[in-house]
Amino acid sequence: MASQVLHSPLRLPFFAFSLLLLLLLPFSSAIRTFRYPPAGFADFSRFSEAPEYRNGADCPSSSSAADTASSCDPSLVHIVMTLDSEYVRGSVAAIHSVLKHASCPENVFFHFIAAEFDQATPRELTKLVRSTFPSLNFKVYIFREDTVINLISSSIRLALENPLNYARNYLGDILDSCVDRVIYLDSDVVVVDDIHKLWNIKLTDSRVIGAPEYCHANFTNYFTEKFWSDPVLSRVFSSRKPCYFNTGVMVMDLSRWRLGNYKKKIESWMELQKRTRIYDLGSLPPFLLVFAGNVEPIDHRWNQHGLGGDNVKDSCRTLHPGPVSLLHWSGKGKPWVRLDDNKPCLLDHLWKPYDLYRATDSTSPAPSSYSSTLISYLSY
Ligand SMILES: *[C@@H]1O[C@H](CO)[C@@H](O)[C@H](O)[C@H]1NC(C)=O
Repeated sequence: MASQVLHSPLRLPFFAFSLLLLLLLPFSSAIRTFRYPPAGFADFSRFSEAPEYRNGADCPSSSSAADTASSCDPSLVHIVMTLDSEYVRGSVAAIHSVLKHASCPENVFFHFIAAEFDQATPRELTKLVRSTFPSLNFKVYIFREDTVINLISSSIRLALENPLNYARNYLGDILDSCVDRVIYLDSDVVVVDDIHKLWNIKLTDSRVIGAPEYCHANFTNYFTEKFWSDPVLSRVFSSRKPCYFNTGVMVMDLSRWRLGNYKKKIESWMELQKRTRIYDLGSLPPFLLVFAGNVEPIDHRWNQHGLGGDNVKDSCRTLHPGPVSLLHWSGKGKPWVRLDDNKPCLLDHLWKPYDLYRATDSTSPAPSSYSSTLISYLSY
C-alpha cells in the first residue's frame, strides 16, 4: 500500500501528498529503506531514450518492413534475452551496447522473454523497451513459469533459481519456427564489438551450440561426488572430452535444437537432479551434461565472464588475457548495483557508458580518464 502511494503520488489529493512529504522529509537520509521501487529494482521512468543507430551503406536491406516485423527476414540477426524488472537496467545497457557497435543495427532483431508473474507486467516491459529504443525490431514473449517450476531444485545462489534462467531451454518452442539461429545473451553483458561477427560463426559437424570453452577449468567441480561415483551417470562423458562453457553467451542452431529434441534431454537431467542431487548450480549443469565436449569452440573474446566476482561473496575480478568483444558480469556482483552503492570494481566503469538509467540525482561520475585508460587497454 505504502509503495503504491509513493509510486503515484499524483493520484492523491494535494493535501494528502503534502502531508506525506512533511512526514517523509525529516527522514530523507533513511528514505532508501522504504523507497519505491525496492533497492536493486529500476524505476522505469528514469530510463532515457537511446541515440538512434543507423545501418552502414553496405548493409543488406530487409526484404520488406512486414518481414522485419514478423522476424522471418533472412537478413536479420536474432538475439534472445530475458527481460525482468530486477535486471532490466542490465538488459537495456546490453541492447544499447549491441546497437552501438553493430555494423548493421537495423538488421538486429531482439526476442525478449518475460516471466508471466514479474513485478512488472510484460506490457510494461514492452513499453519501456519501445520508449527507450523507439525504432528497435523486437518481440516480447511470455514465459510461463509453470513450464519449469517443478523441475527447479535449490542452488547455491537464489538468483540462479529464477525460472527465467531456464527459458533458454525452451527457445525452440517459444520462437517462431522460421527463426533457426539465435544468439542467446544474459542480461549482465555488454558487447563491445560487431555482433555480426559472432552471428556469422560456423557451427561445424552439425553442432547445436557455439560458445567459448574453458578446458583448464576443473570440470569435476561442477558436479557432486554422488554424480562422479555413480558408474552409470558418470559414463555420460566417457565418449567426449568435456570442457566447461558458460551458457550466458551462446550461438544456438534452433533447427538442430528442435530436431534433436534437446529440450527434453535437458529436462531429463533436471528431473534426475530433483531425485538425486548431482550438481549445485542452477540452469548451467544440465547444459554441460548434454553439450560439454560437443560445443563449437568460439574465441574467448566473446565471453569475458566472471566480472561479477564470486557466486556467494563480494569480490572483484580482472579480465582473462586476450582481446575483448563481450564483457560478462556473471557472479554475484552486478555493475549497476556496485556503481549505485559507490563501491564499483575497476571494470564496472566499462559498463557505465552503456547505462541509460539516471539512478540518483547526484551520481558522481567516474573520472573520465579512468574509463578511457581502460578502454584503450582493451584491444578490440
Ligand atoms: C579437480 O577437483 C577435484 C575435486 O575438487 C580434485 O580431486 C582434482 O584433483 C582436481 N583436478 C585437477 C586436475 O586439479
